[in-house]
Amino acid sequence: MSLHLARPDLLHFVPYSSARKESAPSAVMLNANELPWAPYAGGDGLNRYPDPQPSALLARLAQIYGVTPEQLLVGRGSDEAIDLLIRGFCRARQDAIVISPPTFGMYRVCAQLQGAEVVEVPLQACDGFALRPQALIDAALARSAKLVFICSPNNPTGQLASREAILAVADALDERALVIVDEAYVEFADQPSLSEAMPGRSNLLVLRTLSKAFGLAGARIGSLIGSPAIIAFLRGLMAPYPLSAPSVAAALEALSDTRTEAFSGHLAQIKAERKELAERLQAHPEVIRVWPSDANFLCVQWRDACAVAAHLAARGIIVRDLSRYPGLSQCLRLSIGTSAENAAVLAALAAEECA
Ligand SMILES: Cc1ncc(COP(=O)(O)O)c(C=O)c1O
Repeated sequence: MSLHLARPDLLHFVPYSSARKESAPSAVMLNANELPWAPYAGGDGLNRYPDPQPSALLARLAQIYGVTPEQLLVGRGSDEAIDLLIRGFCRARQDAIVISPPTFGMYRVCAQLQGAEVVEVPLQACDGFALRPQALIDAALARSAKLVFICSPNNPTGQLASREAILAVADALDERALVIVDEAYVEFADQPSLSEAMPGRSNLLVLRTLSKAFGLAGARIGSLIGSPAIIAFLRGLMAPYPLSAPSVAAALEALSDTRTEAFSGHLAQIKAERKELAERLQAHPEVIRVWPSDANFLCVQWRDACAVAAHLAARGIIVRDLSRYPGLSQCLRLSIGTSAENAAVLAALAAEECA
């Protein structure tokens, strides 16, 4: 069932019992020390504590992700879910997680905060940053790691991991470790979510977010999809009221059927812009290579990344310097912007001193 991997001291943890959890909203609400009047600003209802896991949002996300509401934990971005997983499963100075750098930095940050060891199975540039399933399995078993994080598409390199490779890792670690597939960018890829493969695999979990393709980074809403037992356990460890009411309202509006067309249009536009920008950059004399991308960014290696970043910054264009990541020296990460923004990048790079 995989819940046996949780921290033993938390298995019988009694979660905080908030007023909103104890009783549903009613005509006269005197159970949460709120002010009884509508707020001075911000809209009706903001004087009340929000539902910790709003059923309408859970239902809509479950529908979009093709799972049940009981399989979903919704938190303050997928960042919160990463933190909860590590806090819930790793004992300080005893347990470990496995990651494949270069990858998203929060797995390591949360592990360090929790005092969990970070075991690395690096991706290799010479191999196109492909996942190394057997090395991941060996590392997880050798250290009895509790969690294996696989970022697919990987931030910051951009590629999807092979579905077969991920499932091979999950199957080999059944009952031994949880395998968490971070799909923050999956909407930009031409492959369905791995949540489809979850039936029969209680150690496979998926992270999703509204921060990327759904355009709601400021609302801070992300999800963890897993077995109902693991989700119920982690929900018990959450802050009492993790989701702010305005964020939930914005999410429900952004996810409504009326927005489907705009959503698909933006996805198609990002993919088209990604293709064009990649081709144009690859032809630039300062570019060594543009890594293939299944996400809404490009990882680009330059002859002199620092000079290019400074050149772009001087023209008001900020990109992410990746040189501190293993295997990514002289690399910059560029998010795909609007056509005008991408054109501005190309125009800046065409300027004389960058040629
Ligand atoms: C791979 C990956 N996972 C998770 C996150 C966190 O996303 P959220 O905004 O949902 O916390 C990010 C943010 O950049 C990311 O790149």
